[in-house]
Amino acid sequence: GDMACGEYGLGRLAEPTAIMTAITAMLSTGPLSGKHIIVTSGPTHEPIDPVRYIANRSSGKQGHAIAKAAAEAGASVVLVSGPVTVPDPAGVQTIHVETARQMLEAVEAALSADIFIGAAAVADWRVADVAGQKIKKDGSGQLPQLSFVENPDILAGVAQSARAQNGALYCVGFAAESHDLLKHATAKRERKGVPLLVGNIGPATFGLDDNALVLVDAQGSQELPHAGKLILARQLVAEIARRLKA
Ligand code: C5P
Repeated sequence: GDMACGEYGLGRLAEPTAIMTAITAMLSTGPLSGKHIIVTSGPTHEPIDPVRYIANRSSGKQGHAIAKAAAEAGASVVLVSGPVTVPDPAGVQTIHVETARQMLEAVEAALSADIFIGAAAVADWRVADVAGQKIKKDGSGQLPQLSFVENPDILAGVAQSARAQNGALYCVGFAAESHDLLKHATAKRERKGVPLLVGNIGPATFGLDDNALVLVDAQGSQELPHAGKLILARQLVAEIARRLKA
């Protein structure tokens, strides 16, 4: 990584949290000990101009709880987080990004992992021509017109990679729906090409400390009933570990 004076390469001391994460994972006897996991969490911010952005209501609480639970289970965890106010989980190497494209870049840089969990609410679209200067309200009554382009689908891209296809990388996706959860989660699992898809009702949980999950895989579906996000995260991690073993 970068060093002072702009030098780059071997010789740079790794971040203490990264060292701790690696040591803890090495010494752990948990169900995911020795495994490398990447988790995405939070929303992304897509700029309109230097002072405005488009975002969504994801708080990052569920994704961060999953990263923490994975570390507790002995994994070495990289968390790629969009802009959130929740603190970095202890024992997890956290990389902070703003936009979907930055999130993709950070995920790709960490992609020698065994498990990828895409819990982030990545913005589907970004503004096509980001203004270099603040768009001014000039009194003429003229409204700004925004046009959009599609963001890369990080999860679908990772799920199509060679390592995911040959089973070396296990991919878990999320679906935040407002209704017909099981139907949408089942369809999304197929569309994203992932072995496990976790559904939740977005508006019922955004920003809150509790949630309820439904797990959809090739065998069918299974509910993790209403509970705190860390409790659900631990149950989800146990389910992932069980599936990896099988
Ligand atoms: O298609 P939708 O956004 O509903 O899919 C949700 C799942 O896909 C989540 O796991 C989310 O993290 C992931 N995703 C992604 N990149 C995108 C959009 C969604 O990784 N651009």
